[in-house]
Amino acid sequence: YSKHDSTDQDAVITRDVAYGLADIDWDSLGFSLTPTEYMYVMKCSQGQSFSKGELQHFGNIELSPSAGVLNYGQGLFEGLKAQRKQDGNILLFRPDQNALRMRIGAERMCMPSPTVEQFVDAVTATVLANKRWIPPHGKGSLYIRPLLIGSGAVLHLAPSPEYTFLIYVTPVGNYFKVWADYFEHGEDSIVHEGIAPIHLLIDTEVHRAAPGGTGGIKTLGNYASVYKAQGAAQAKGYTDVLYLDCVHKKYLEEVSSCNVFVVKGNVISTPAIKGTILPGITRKSIIDVARSQGFQMYMERGRKDRSRAVSQQYANTLAIGTHALNVVVVEERLVTVDELLDADEVFCTGTAVVVSPVGSITYHGERLSYGNGGVGVVSQQLYAALTRLQMGLTEDKMNWVVEL
Ligand code: COI
Repeated sequence: YSKHDSTDQDAVITRDVAYGLADIDWDSLGFSLTPTEYMYVMKCSQGQSFSKGELQHFGNIELSPSAGVLNYGQGLFEGLKAQRKQDGNILLFRPDQNALRMRIGAERMCMPSPTVEQFVDAVTATVLANKRWIPPHGKGSLYIRPLLIGSGAVLHLAPSPEYTFLIYVTPVGNYFKVWADYFEHGEDSIVHEGIAPIHLLIDTEVHRAAPGGTGGIKTLGNYASVYKAQGAAQAKGYTDVLYLDCVHKKYLEEVSSCNVFVVKGNVISTPAIKGTILPGITRKSIIDVARSQGFQMYMERGRKDRSRAVSQQYANTLAIGTHALNVVVVEERLVTVDELLDADEVFCTGTAVVVSPVGSITYHGERLSYGNGGVGVVSQQLYAALTRLQMGLTEDKMNWVVEL
């Protein structure tokens, strides 16, 4: 969405208001819960398959105090988004991938899971039932949160006798909005709509996951276990924590809520998936987008960029390279913490964070800066390529987008 399209945009908003678009301030969305109208609920017993779910009014659910999820953390969640196209139609991004990831996680956590078709149908029904909460085009998205929990009562350390698959949705804006880089660089730090650099601390003592554990699935406990390190880092002014592997304490793993990428010249590297890292759908999509569009896109679009910081960074990047700029290599491998020392850019990816450029990483008290206080060109290009695809602004050659 470009500001030049405001007439079309106004027409769409007028039409949506006529259809009853929710009456909230769409310009001030962050990443927090705005209760919507309907949630989807489907239950099944251990050993059975999910068969029929239904939409219910959004509200509290009843659980036994001895429910498996409350006592032993038997549960998984997913995260995906619905966006509004310029014409007001609704798009989902790769919902089948979330369904597959939930099935893999459920197998690890000894839970039954919905089929891919059941999952996608349930997401579709929940989004359509709550469509007046999908932000106008370009104002944010509808975050979709599927949960799979052991809802039956159990005391022995064993799988729950009953499971609940539940989906709720909420309109969201930028995940890191509250932590954006206002303090240090003020408004100027936001050089591209929707993205501002984040500042990470490497915590060498706390680890997110261990080999053989559950770091590679979206189980609930992986997330609450970062609160302490994340809170301590935020109290010192950092946005979040970047974790290292727990065996060698030298390989990058991920940030509390997202995957990480390191850019050096024309090589983009990201930690390989080996059980301790969440296989992000945004991570996978960015790898494919970078491989397929690569620096072609970077060259064409970089020149047109209006931002001083981006142009400066673009010029710097050109000056660095003797490499052919129309070739980009994406590597999935072990990435050492030392590679951060001379990286050109670092960025994070995730459904919630989209593509978030990293402005600095502090390691053993040393602050390493990226992007010249702005947003690096590669991060910006990949953010634009992905979000334009998700919003229906570019042709979906990958067949990733589902129009409802
Ligand atoms: C997502 O990006 O959807 C996630 O699951 C991260 C979550 C911690 C907000």
